[in-house]
Amino acid sequence: MLLDAQQRVINYVRLSVTDRCNLRCTYCMPADMKFAKKDTLLTDEEIITVLSTLAAAGVSKVRITGGEPFLRPGLLSLLEKIHNIEGIANIAVTTNGVLTSDYIPALKKLGADHINLSLDTLQADRFIKITRRDSFAAVIKTFDSLLAHQLQVKINMVVMDNVNTDEINDFVALTKDAPVSVRFIEEMPFNGQGHGFSGINWNYHRILETISVQYQLQKLSDAPNTTSINYRIPGHQGSIGVIPAYSRTFCGSCNRLRIAANGGVRTCLYGNDVLNLKKLINTGQPLMPAIIDALNARYADGFEAEKHASLDKASMSLIGG
Ligand code: GTP
Ligand code: 5AD
Ligand code: SF4
Repeated sequence: MLLDAQQRVINYVRLSVTDRCNLRCTYCMPADMKFAKKDTLLTDEEIITVLSTLAAAGVSKVRITGGEPFLRPGLLSLLEKIHNIEGIANIAVTTNGVLTSDYIPALKKLGADHINLSLDTLQADRFIKITRRDSFAAVIKTFDSLLAHQLQVKINMVVMDNVNTDEINDFVALTKDAPVSVRFIEEMPFNGQGHGFSGINWNYHRILETISVQYQLQKLSDAPNTTSINYRIPGHQGSIGVIPAYSRTFCGSCNRLRIAANGGVRTCLYGNDVLNLKKLINTGQPLMPAIIDALNARYADGFEAEKHASLDKASMSLIGG
């Protein structure tokens, strides 16, 4: 079992398989985002080495993130190899849905059936403003196909002041007839454009208040280690949740380790890379002692981690969310 300095059990790895993306969401990266050179990224073989090592130490869940994971050549064969690692019981994917629809039957077959879909608006013209790309129809096709194939779908909606707050209850309406969990995420300061972030006007309380005006919310009992506070609405097939990603109320039960596409390891989203696994592998050093040292130095929460970090120019596409 892997424990950190606070005796939290670490059994969940978020692995970004590419920093590249086919969207340019304003809250994630600048329009002219420069991506890493391909030879600086972890190879499939390195990823399998890392995940096998972590699985042997007690990690059982892997969430594949990006950038956009489906831009990594050969993603399905990588997922199949991850699926075969002893100890990995749960593979989940977070995707923007642009390329995903073709892969849904294969994902289901692999047991990668928990898919989180990033979607911040239900309006085609607004989608272009937020993502700087015209891919709304492709994302909706993926959403429909995920439901048709009965995968477990969560929609991630980043709530942005003066951008999409007027759509909060339109997203809630989606849960009426579809078994989907819509999660409203507080915006975080990871837009790849330097800080200039002075806090948020829409925290999870305000989001819940807005929903309560129109809907009756009944608290659900949340799974341990979850980031979202979840509710059902009478008569709705799906559910809603809020993710206090900026308020950081869930740090006390945080069970995750993050591995960036280049092998960088973060013990907190709000911290900096504390080691690089690609470098360790390339110099023939063992991984576990370095990972254990990093966990022993882990801060108690995201506020502490942020105090000791430089978040300037951090983009979610490399960190993986
Ligand atoms: P599951 O619980 O496996 O469904 O995943 P998740 O909700 O952690 O993953 P997802 O990739 O859908 O992320 C949803 C949002 O939660 C993203 O904006 C993440 O950045 C945010 N998030 C995930 N983990 C953390 C965390 O440790 N700290 C903070 N502050 N935000 C997080
Ligand atoms: N703030 C909050 N959430 C973000 N995501 C990306 N950038 C940010 C940000 N600055 C979300 C994406 C995706 C998840 C992994 O992280 O929408 O669903
Ligand atoms: Fe791409 Fe996700 Fe970043 Fe949007 S938030 S640009 S979809 S990595």
